[in-house]
Amino acid sequence: MLFIILITLCVVLFIIKFRTSNKNYWRKKNVIQVDDLMNKFFFGNRSMPEVCKTVYDEYDAPHIGTTMGTTPMLMLKNLEDVQAVFAGDFQSFYSRGIKTNPCDVLANNLLFMEDFNTWKLLRQKLSPVFTSSKLKSMFFIIEKCARDFVELVENNQSMRDEPFTASYTYTTGSIGASVFGIDTQTNSSTMDSPFLDMAWKSLEPTTATNIKIFISNVFPKLFELLRFKLFGDYEDFFVGVVKSVMEERRRDPTKRRHGFIEICLEMQKNGVLEDPTTGFQLEPTDELVAAQAFFFFIAGADTTANTIHFTLLELASNPKILNKLHEEIDSIFEPGKKELTYTDVEKLQYLDMVINEAMRKYPPIGFIQRICTKDTVLPSKVRIEKGTGIIIPAYAIHRDERFYPNPDEFDPERFGPNNIADVKKYSFMPFGEGNRVCIGARLARLQVKTGLTWLLRRFTLGEQRYAPERFERSSFGLRDPHARYDLIPRNV
Ligand code: HEM
Repeated sequence: MLFIILITLCVVLFIIKFRTSNKNYWRKKNVIQVDDLMNKFFFGNRSMPEVCKTVYDEYDAPHIGTTMGTTPMLMLKNLEDVQAVFAGDFQSFYSRGIKTNPCDVLANNLLFMEDFNTWKLLRQKLSPVFTSSKLKSMFFIIEKCARDFVELVENNQSMRDEPFTASYTYTTGSIGASVFGIDTQTNSSTMDSPFLDMAWKSLEPTTATNIKIFISNVFPKLFELLRFKLFGDYEDFFVGVVKSVMEERRRDPTKRRHGFIEICLEMQKNGVLEDPTTGFQLEPTDELVAAQAFFFFIAGADTTANTIHFTLLELASNPKILNKLHEEIDSIFEPGKKELTYTDVEKLQYLDMVINEAMRKYPPIGFIQRICTKDTVLPSKVRIEKGTGIIIPAYAIHRDERFYPNPDEFDPERFGPNNIADVKKYSFMPFGEGNRVCIGARLARLQVKTGLTWLLRRFTLGEQRYAPERFERSSFGLRDPHARYDLIPRNV
């Protein structure tokens, strides 16, 4: 009985704190303040990027104050402020404010997460994995995956009926092959990925995950106390797989393939990682490697699949653009060509423009967050105290008429050679910007381009109109996995 009273009291106190604290934080600073965004998200039916866009469009001001639980948050509309947060004043804004518990092996070891020293050292060590020359040497893996993807679509009506599943199968298989390498001796399809199930489950925006993210944001102390794990369900499976692959490669180096795991094995051979400027050290354990590999699936598979998906949905709505793209793609396929090269894919400039425009209209991550770690002042003169959150509403900025005339129109020419100079710096940020910009952006673009090239060589799209009323209720992304289009085989 006493226990129930105690729990009820705690809940009531939390609700009171939640509803009253910082309610007027921004008003006191003469900044427009709107109601708590978490409330709007939890009790509404829209994704967080859409919630932000509604608020963003409503007020003509350089920034809008709000709260997320007890944390005061400032939503930015001014690109100079966005630049300061992403890059110019990085020391005050390096943190994403995502809490993890030390017992959470996958989340706590991630490059994506919090601790500055760990992030800096991991970023230094992992960046070489994503250089153009490394990607060139891995291109044969990505290319094989793209061909397997098209074969999968050709041979399975169910994949044509659920095109998002097809794209997601491709991107998961492709990331799996890039991380673990592929055996060129066998003819098995890279689409039979053992990680597909895990990747699907880990991405479903379940209520339990949303609640954990909510508690980590709003009541970080409670999150610590309850020792919540963000990716706990996948820990044993994933750490186990990575450890056994690494063990196998150590035992039999002849089995070495080109992939992320090989680079990590080299890193482990060189012993403890050290930051030469600070002396900070990190042991490259199998768990650390497993956490990065796991995150490549989490960060890479859904985002690239959505990019492919939205690109195809817009192409089905814009037949002239689709025809122009078919012409460009056909131009690199001389008769009898069986495989693409890295240079072929590099040549496809119009495809780049189409993909950029799709990521502008539908940024897969439409809500980017930072937490201030040191008191500072933004260029628009607003004072930001340590602990305050910053919202960079990527989706709203990408659809802002001030930066993109007719923002709802799909027009790849915005990114063409004649107009690209008009795209304002920090108004286009599908991969974020500044020091914490997406480390996998180049790999992602290569995967998306290669997959689309093969798919649009073999298929065209039935004409339809795509104008969604709302997207899936995700806490950071734009997703519409049930939207579909008709894939029609081409006679080439
Ligand atoms: C179209 C596909 C992708 C999109 C749209 C995307 C977008 C993003 C965005 C918006 C961020 C946050 C940037 C910020 O906070 O400023 C990010 C971070 C990150 N992404 Fe991606 N991403 C994609 C694919 C990938 C892939 C394929 C990988 C890895 C294989 C990857 C790995 C990461 C990592 C590790 C971070 C954290 C970087 C850091 O904190 O230093 N992403 N991504």
